[in-house]
Amino acid sequence: MNLLLKKKLFILLVVLSCTSNQFILAQPTHTTTETRLNWWREARFGLFIHWGLYSVAAGQWNGKDIDGIGEWIQNFAKIPNSEYNKLTKDFTLLNYHPEEWVALAKQAGTKYIVFTAKHHDGFALYPSDASEFNIRMTPYQEDPLKQLITACRKAGIKVGIYYSHRQDWHEEDAAVMSNEYDGHYGKPKSEVKPNLDRYIRHKALPQIRELLTRYGNIDLIWYDTPFDLTLEQSQIFVNVIRELQPNCIINGRVGYNLGDYGPLGDNEMPCSKATTDLEMVATLNHTWGYKKNDNHWKGKKEILCSLIESASRNINYMVNIGPMADGTIPTPSVDILKFVGNWMAVNSESIYGTEGNPFNDNFPWGYVTRKENNLYLHLTQCPQNNCILLKGLHSDIRQAMILATQQPLTVANRQSVKTITIPDGLDYEKIPVIKLVCETPIKTDTRNLMNEGIISIPAASGTVKAGQKGKITFAEGGTTENFNPQTGSLLLECEIDIPGEYEVKLYTSRHWRKSFAEGTFVTLKTGDNILSNRLLKKDGELANVRQNSYPETWSTIGTVTFPKEGTQKIELSIDKIGTFTRLGHFGEDLQGESENNIRIMKIELIYKTQ
Ligand code: GLC
Repeated sequence: MNLLLKKKLFILLVVLSCTSNQFILAQPTHTTTETRLNWWREARFGLFIHWGLYSVAAGQWNGKDIDGIGEWIQNFAKIPNSEYNKLTKDFTLLNYHPEEWVALAKQAGTKYIVFTAKHHDGFALYPSDASEFNIRMTPYQEDPLKQLITACRKAGIKVGIYYSHRQDWHEEDAAVMSNEYDGHYGKPKSEVKPNLDRYIRHKALPQIRELLTRYGNIDLIWYDTPFDLTLEQSQIFVNVIRELQPNCIINGRVGYNLGDYGPLGDNEMPCSKATTDLEMVATLNHTWGYKKNDNHWKGKKEILCSLIESASRNINYMVNIGPMADGTIPTPSVDILKFVGNWMAVNSESIYGTEGNPFNDNFPWGYVTRKENNLYLHLTQCPQNNCILLKGLHSDIRQAMILATQQPLTVANRQSVKTITIPDGLDYEKIPVIKLVCETPIKTDTRNLMNEGIISIPAASGTVKAGQKGKITFAEGGTTENFNPQTGSLLLECEIDIPGEYEVKLYTSRHWRKSFAEGTFVTLKTGDNILSNRLLKKDGELANVRQNSYPETWSTIGTVTFPKEGTQKIELSIDKIGTFTRLGHFGEDLQGESENNIRIMKIELIYKTQ
């Protein structure tokens, strides 16, 4: 294989590993998945823990900061195994107190923990008999996994184990990327002869068996980066769990949609209500494994918002901590989790066991969840004129209150439009929750309606018109897939209450890309308005929260006029696709490469006051 081809294959593998569209084959049997998922759906909130030899390196090699996510340091810095192994002597665990980790998880309100038993570097954080590259090589002679599991059980926290089933940089048999061939095994590339089946038989499968037979009930196995596994190989990783622990949940990244729930990319938030079970996995800064110089901590309110937003999309939220080599959890992570925990202590009713937002809208003032006859409105900012106009609710509200204090609120039920008056003096940094108790089971209108002058139209609420070469599809997260000049157009609808001029804002998202396509042109038609061949420019992007690695960008492409009230049809097509620039986290330089696909998340129409 020539170098360019290899590079391309590598890129494809990396991108596919975190996205979902290749997982299209067999589905597990419906009823068993349903039962297995009961506790997980109820939980809504989990804690991810990335801990391993990379925590010793802490993002630096030979005194230099290494770019990218911390647990990939061996790969990014091309560290030979003989060198990387030496980290074992400094993996002390001197300050490892699993009961304290679990207490923090519990106080934060998380209901399950997923712990890295073996990451891509191949190091087992338990005494494995299937590979000597394990915790026995460190000064710590006990079993940290067992201790954590014991602490979880005591505290009533469900136990999940992360196991990287395809990647293992320690094993030549699993070699897959040029960095491994080039550097890890201390021999010329020509002598590295991987044999993936043998790796699965000799290490991955025996280790999964160890994990499922030595520690009692495991509630969730979290596989990662399936890359080029065949369907048969992914199936092996499913079968072993079904055989040994039939109640154990399998996550989406096992490959080929064989998991009990679907896969999302890292830090990827669906842009509309999800139609399958999904879990958003999120970092608190820009790394999973500890990096001493990553200070890009996300805000406390931002993280709390992400938990709430996930629940409003009807999905789980699993937030990550990356403890230091001795077991200390970085202070900013502790602070964020405590903040979330304080909120959960009085508001968790609006998260646990809820379903997502029953309306189609993204509300300017915040997010909605529901449970039975109740709606929960999470206020991230003060609603216009201290008043929420809830449109399209066909059940009358019997009672309204602030959830944390039970303070009653005034409501006016007027057919399908309800008005809730919000008192002064609420602290929007702490996201107050309004609980609405309805008279009858909740029935809502799913049209795209105007709220506070904005009509938010999720791409996934639309239909598609096929083009010369196929048609647009939708990813699990609700963005378009396969949208290019040859795949036709996206057809959307919205309701106009107030005739007049509206600004058109397009939201796109791009996996691992710094910018959306520079130089992409689109056409939008609605009524008599034609915004023809409009350039998508980067007018803004969502700062920090999802930057790593699903940045959201927006572009205002023009103004349209609606002379009358009523339903409007909108048609969006792509004229030309531009050029992407890559973040470069995987050490690759994609400058100048283009990709034939624009991921549209939603369109906003913003009313222009005269
Ligand atoms: C990724 C990375 C990995 C990280 C994981 C978390 O795919 O390869 O390092 O553990 O996502 O979701």
